Amino acid sequence: MPFISFEGVEGCGKSTQMRLLAERLRGRGGAVTATREPGGTPLGERLRAILLESRSALDPLAEWLLFEADRRQHLAEVVRPALAAGAWVLCDRFSDSTEAYQAAGRGLDAALIAEVDARVRDGVCPELTLLYDLDVAEGLARTRRRDAREGRFESEDLAFHERVRRRFLEIARREPLRVVVVPAQADAPAVFEETWRIVSERFAP
Ligand code: TYD
Repeated sequence: MPFISFEGVEGCGKSTQMRLLAERLRGRGGAVTATREPGGTPLGERLRAILLESRSALDPLAEWLLFEADRRQHLAEVVRPALAAGAWVLCDRFSDSTEAYQAAGRGLDAALIAEVDARVRDGVCPELTLLYDLDVAEGLARTRRRDAREGRFESEDLAFHERVRRRFLEIARREPLRVVVVPAQADAPAVFEETWRIVSERFAP
């Protein structure tokens, strides 16, 4: 079954869309592994705490390498076994987040990231990436309504988040067969109609 990743800026609603898709697929008898990055494994959840909650300064290169370590373990422990078992794998963020946040956001070398990330993935790539596109100020306002505490990335300035959004859209233009842009302004049920249309047209579940 396919590997589908969910991407977008903070507060774009991708996690809700992923949950709704998992429910719909399971309701139709599909085997679904719903997972996330960072996280998804015991090591990953520990890395997640360091990466998202830590108030201490984290060197950008160290931060990036922790995301890659998380991904490698997640692929080995969760993603590859689930794909081998014939499950749908739905992943909340994957390699496009690394390009958007660490290359465009933090300014790290995109070519180096692409090279190392390809080694980490070792041939695994989502068949479909749903990119939920939303104005960054609107997305950040949504996350603040949900949780007043700000994580490492939410507290970055608007320009950082604009770079992230622009890079996601560039990735979609570069890889139009894999990445589908879904406008995320509407409410969750309306956005889900679009999510389902795209997934059902492509995979006929
Ligand atoms: P996430 O759980 O996706 O939060 P939200 O759903 O609130 O956006 O948070 C993951 C954070 O980690 C998000 O701010 C983006 C960041 N991130 C990176 O910077 N690089 C990566 O490679 C990944 C997977 C995530």
